[in-house]
Amino acid sequence: MTATATPQTSAAGTRHGSSIGQPLTRRDGPLKVTGQARFSADNLPPGTLHAALCVARIAKGRVTGLNRSAAEAHPGVVAVMTPENAPKLAQDPDAKAGPFIFRLDLLQNDRVRYANQPIAVVIAETLEAATEGARLLAPTYASETPRIGLDSGEVFTPDSVGVGAAPSESDGDVEAGLASASRTIAATYETPAQYHNAMEPHAALAQWDGDRLTLHMPTQGLAISQGRLAGLFGIKPDDIHIESPYLGGGFGSKGVPSGPQVLACMAARMVGRPVKLVPTRSQMYGPMGHRGPTRQTLRLGTDAAGKLTALDHHILTASSSFDDFFEPAGRATSTLYASPAIAIRHEAVRLDTGTPLFMRAPGEATGSVALESALDEMAHELGMDPLEFRLANYAEVEPITGKPFSSKALRACYQRGAEAFGWAGRPLQPRQTRDKDGFLVGIGMGTATFPALIFEGMARAEIRADGTGTVELGAIDMGQGAWTALAQIAADGLGIGMEALTFRMGSSDLPNAGIAGGSGHTATAGNAIHAAAQDVIAQLAKLATDDPASPLYGAGNAGVAAAGGRLTRQDDSSRSESFADILKRAGRASIEGQGKAGADPAAQKSYAMHAHGAVFAEVRVDPDLGQIRVSRLVGAFAAGRVINPRLVQSQYYGGMIWGLSFALHERAEMDPRTGRFLNDNLAEYHLPVNADIPAMEAILVHEEDSVVNALGVKGVGEIGITGTVGAIANAVWHATGVRVREMPITLDKLLG
Ligand code: MOS
Repeated sequence: MTATATPQTSAAGTRHGSSIGQPLTRRDGPLKVTGQARFSADNLPPGTLHAALCVARIAKGRVTGLNRSAAEAHPGVVAVMTPENAPKLAQDPDAKAGPFIFRLDLLQNDRVRYANQPIAVVIAETLEAATEGARLLAPTYASETPRIGLDSGEVFTPDSVGVGAAPSESDGDVEAGLASASRTIAATYETPAQYHNAMEPHAALAQWDGDRLTLHMPTQGLAISQGRLAGLFGIKPDDIHIESPYLGGGFGSKGVPSGPQVLACMAARMVGRPVKLVPTRSQMYGPMGHRGPTRQTLRLGTDAAGKLTALDHHILTASSSFDDFFEPAGRATSTLYASPAIAIRHEAVRLDTGTPLFMRAPGEATGSVALESALDEMAHELGMDPLEFRLANYAEVEPITGKPFSSKALRACYQRGAEAFGWAGRPLQPRQTRDKDGFLVGIGMGTATFPALIFEGMARAEIRADGTGTVELGAIDMGQGAWTALAQIAADGLGIGMEALTFRMGSSDLPNAGIAGGSGHTATAGNAIHAAAQDVIAQLAKLATDDPASPLYGAGNAGVAAAGGRLTRQDDSSRSESFADILKRAGRASIEGQGKAGADPAAQKSYAMHAHGAVFAEVRVDPDLGQIRVSRLVGAFAAGRVINPRLVQSQYYGGMIWGLSFALHERAEMDPRTGRFLNDNLAEYHLPVNADIPAMEAILVHEEDSVVNALGVKGVGEIGITGTVGAIANAVWHATGVRVREMPITLDKLLG
């Protein structure tokens, strides 16, 4: 298959031994803007056939007929794959074998479980012929009434929420705390189903060579994908080669292989030629996961001084009729505010939709909408400034667990954010301010939080006798900047400049670097790289310090540092030697090292580890039309060590934009009668465009953390959403006096 363009190292903006902390631009940027970065669907090996999906137009029932002969009669069509002739799989795709295994619809029967479920695949010489063939199938159905909406199912308590979290958590007696409170509030908030809408569809180009599979496919987890496909096809994970150098967004939806990607592999096997399948936008609404809807009730009690006496959070969410993923919306409530009594409880219904999945800040995004709105409502009830109210209930240790935080610079975030925004002097009452054009102006704030996660990952590193080095691992860049940030960690780890580093990632042939998800990829892959580089440097140091001919002789491993392609004695900087000289004298062409990263169970037992932030929003609302514009957004975030301030800031901007989108735009609309989507396209599923985005500021608050992991990094990818939605909702209330508790906040909800 065609070679893939990968980022070249560039010396621009780098200093030897100090790549970490530099605001380097994305190394893959020039490749992307010049079209040289090869995304999965850009590959077209000779003989490739094109596949098109035929998807269900009903949400529940059976397919009773497909006009196969009409499709097969089309001159360009090579094959039609339906449940009648689809390859049988080595494993039931409904078998549950782990937390990252989701049930898939792979043409093994005629059942329809959700709208847009694949029911056939047409394989043809051209995309046009495949598309036309799929249309000619003209399916008929036996349709049943679907369950759509949170009120249509039977409520139950799931075994777990998110990925393996308990559905309930509590500490203290919430009812007693509410009974003894001098003030209480209770309010119910709703968040809709949302779809990831990554710009790049879940494409797959599959090619079989006997029992070996080569796959160009965007994935956030190479090893997870290998494992899932190996199980389904009854082959060894090592016989599956996946290339995934660039992703046009993932946001969780590419964390596990989607059904259509597996169908491309089945189709390629059936026809014995390479097959490319690129779902259409509407076909991404169904089999690729989504953010489940929530209805959340918060009950708060405070004493006369504004200290919480009780915090109760009940969540109703939904999964599909056939699989389990439950939006863990209570998570932020267990970490953010101190209260002698906290109770969190998730319940769920089953609906005839595709299975929900993790979607950027799963749980924290939805939960903090309700929590931050309720905090604001209580502050108003108390006549307190919302920031003062949050400070009065600042959690010095993690509530419920009682663990100390490994680091928590949230006070500094509040202070820096409030200062930069100009929070002081905010009128306590709503609807007090108008701008020169007569628009109602309001400001609001929200606290941001996201756990600092790390997964298991491995890396390989090498230093060669010419002083250059290589670091490689199966890490993933879905747009967040991993090609750049991880290379910075690699260069510093090996003590060489970026121009001397060859950095490889994005292929399943490389060491397993875990999933790019949970905002844990820089921690995971970065610490694996750091450990691999340390392994190389330790071997190099041993060669030198054991050699009487070296100026480093006798210094001992702990006594030398690597930088600028040299080892230098810590106690005497005049004594140093280049990597090249050490290797040449030892007669070695290169030294290779391995490294691993993973959670430290002892640290996890003793400490709570989270990133924090504070977001401030200003909105302007047309008093006659209810139109809402966010006019300013300021976020201040503390997430440990900053590897690349430009990329970190960009992640915060992206999160804050997502938060704005959540607050004002996004909502999947389904027809409750048919269970079909009314807006499964980018015209009617509203997302913000540049004109919707105000001047933004993201402040990087200094935070050091020697516990969280060796590099001291926390995740930055998801936290920006969490404070922003509440900040905007609170600002809309402050502007108008209307409290909208159902997201998104649209103008009709302001015009009562
Ligand atoms: Mo993220 S939802 O963990 O890709």
